[in-house]
Amino acid sequence: MLEKLQQRWKVNGLNLVLIICTFALGGSLCGYAGRKILQLVSIDKGLLWFIVYIVLITLLWPICVLLVSIPLGQFGFFKRYLGKIWGRINGRRTRDGRQGTTVHEPWAMAHGRPTIAIFASGAGSNAKKIIESNPSFTIGLIVCNKPGAGVLQIAADNNIPALLIEKERFFKDDAYLEKLKAAEIDFIILAGFLWKIPKKLIEAFPNKIINIHPALLPNYGGKGMYGHHVHQAVVDAKEKESGITIHYVDELYDHGNIIFQAKCVVTENDTADTLAQKIHELEHEHYPRVAAQVIEQMQKQR
Ligand code: GAR
Repeated sequence: MLEKLQQRWKVNGLNLVLIICTFALGGSLCGYAGRKILQLVSIDKGLLWFIVYIVLITLLWPICVLLVSIPLGQFGFFKRYLGKIWGRINGRRTRDGRQGTTVHEPWAMAHGRPTIAIFASGAGSNAKKIIESNPSFTIGLIVCNKPGAGVLQIAADNNIPALLIEKERFFKDDAYLEKLKAAEIDFIILAGFLWKIPKKLIEAFPNKIINIHPALLPNYGGKGMYGHHVHQAVVDAKEKESGITIHYVDELYDHGNIIFQAKCVVTENDTADTLAQKIHELEHEHYPRVAAQVIEQMQKQR
């Protein structure tokens, strides 16, 4: 039960205790203040007293928990928590794709661990490295478009929920925004995901989607340039070096701002297979670290 709350609110154990204390103390303060106010207006104890009391404590409760949250260091959490409740009351929740895309509210980003989704279509060796890197974020979802892909087994082995997606909904409907929102995803890491990212998703996660490409962009990128095709093209062109590019994702294939590149030598003896191996080594060495840095930076900017 407590673990579930911790995951839901994305807080550590100490913060969870302080949040529960704030609820308890705020509730008591609110009850006490409600009774004191009713003494001032001298209403007889009865049904009317009870109704006024309920209305009063409903109004006082947010103020009381906010007040108590300050000394307990939980003001940020409760501000967002109450904002969320208020938004729901007003029907102003972040809308999903069905109602028109709005910017996703990464409510966890400023408080505790952000939750990320890894999108992958293949074996998932990069996803595995990210999972094993003991990251400072929670991996809340693995999204995959290929039934039977290795990455789905990796998700199962690590008890990470997996979402198998279909083309129709991804490109023509809500791009699974509803599901991403339900999983409270703050950030998306593409790790060998071979579908283009639809506009709806890019708009909902502005500068919050990164990709890794197995070549030195802007060379050897674009439609059809993935995995083996990239390495074969590099070998065929007798390039002396290749490498990896980690970049933000925009609406074009392999096009967004570059965050990081690393190089490796391509020898005359290299084949697409041996080059793929070298590239994978580079990816595994750098992607978990660079992804973590980007996410940390974004948290700091909030
Ligand atoms: C990686 O090499 C990644 O760079 C590439 O797919 C491979 C996935 O390997 N991505 C692209 O080509 C995207 N254009 P993995 O499933 O073992 O992580």
